[in-house]
This record gives sequence, C-alpha cells and structure tokens, in this order.
Amino acid sequence: MTEPRIDVLFSTEAIAARIAGLAGEIRDAGFGERLLVVAVLKGGFVFAADLIRALHHAGVSPEVDFMSLSSYRAGTTSTGTITVLRDLETDVAGRQVLIVDDILESGRTLAWAKRLLGERGAARVGLAVLLDKPGHRAAEIEADFVGFTCPDLFVVGFGMDMGHAFRELPYIGHVVDPQ
Ligand code: IMP
Ligand code: MG
Repeated sequence: MTEPRIDVLFSTEAIAARIAGLAGEIRDAGFGERLLVVAVLKGGFVFAADLIRALHHAGVSPEVDFMSLSSYRAGTTSTGTITVLRDLETDVAGRQVLIVDDILESGRTLAWAKRLLGERGAARVGLAVLLDKPGHRAAEIEADFVGFTCPDLFVVGFGMDMGHAFRELPYIGHVVDPQ
C-alpha cells in the first residue's frame, strides 16, 4: 500500500499554544477544585497528556483516570448502543469532572458518557475536545472547551488514527484522498 499524503492542518506549535490557552480557560471556569480529568481512550490520550501538563502550568493539579468506550462505528450502521470497555477506577461522586477526548462529531458517545458520570453523582461534568466537527451532530451536546473547529475532513495525528495508524504524528494532518 502506498503511504497516503498527509497535509498539516494544525501544527505542533499551534496545538501547544492552543492547549495552553485551554488550560487557562478551564481554570478560569472554576474546574480547578478537586478536578478529575477523564481521558477517553484511545483517541484522547495524547491531548489529555499535554492538557494535564498545561493545567499544571496554569496552577491546576488534576487527578487523571481513563475510560474506554466501544465505538458504535464498528459496524456499518449505528446501533446507538455504547458499552464501557474499560471503566474508571475513581468514584466521581461529588467531583468536578472534565471529560477529555479528541473529536466531537455526532456526539453520541460523549453525550452518553456525560450522562453516565452525572448519574454516578459527579458535581459537574465538563467536556474538553481538541477538535469540534459541528457539521454532523446527532446528539444534544456541545463541548465546554474546544481546541479548534475542524473542517469536514478526515484528520489523523495527535492521538487520532486511520485504521490504527498515525496516532504518533506530533501534528494534526488531513489525509488527502484516503483509499
Ligand atoms: P462521535 O462524536 O461519537 O461521532 O465520534 C467522534 C469519534 O469519531 C472521535 O472520537 C474519533 O474517534 C472518531 N473520528 C471522527 N472523525 C475523525 C477523523 O477525522 N479522524 C479520526 N477519527 C475520527
Ligand atoms: Mg474517540
């Protein structure tokens, strides 16, 4: 297979600057007190890793936990059924929780996750996404903190994959004419 062409959409430097800005926004929104960052695997792990260090520089000391949710995209059609593949170890009751993920697109999975953590008694559940693709929303959800609004393109890098590849790219790239 020939390697697809990947054009840089958001550079390493632009992402770093934006994540630093997001950390300040999160602190200023009052998420600093006993904050639990919930990184959504797999796509959210690179963003979450940089965001928690930016939060440190912004004076916030979060706890971190991880959650892996089944993707309804596994089949050709959406069933709307979401299962927890890897659950949190942390009790979220009474906590300020910030869900951190790569992309908000249809929003089905993240709306479900937000509701779940609310039902478990979280005091407040916020959502931070690196990219917002607003054109395909199917659930009633908006992110509280958005890195960049993303054009309607297939993107990879910074944790995001195409067929399990390209998560390691230190920038966000657009796959030109994926085969
Ligand atoms: P949704 O908001 O539940 O529709 O799904 C968003 C998820 O779809 C993201 O967390 C990614 O895993 C995946 N996704 C959506 N668009 C892209 C893309 O352009 N590149 C890679 N993954 C994507
Ligand atoms: Mg995802």
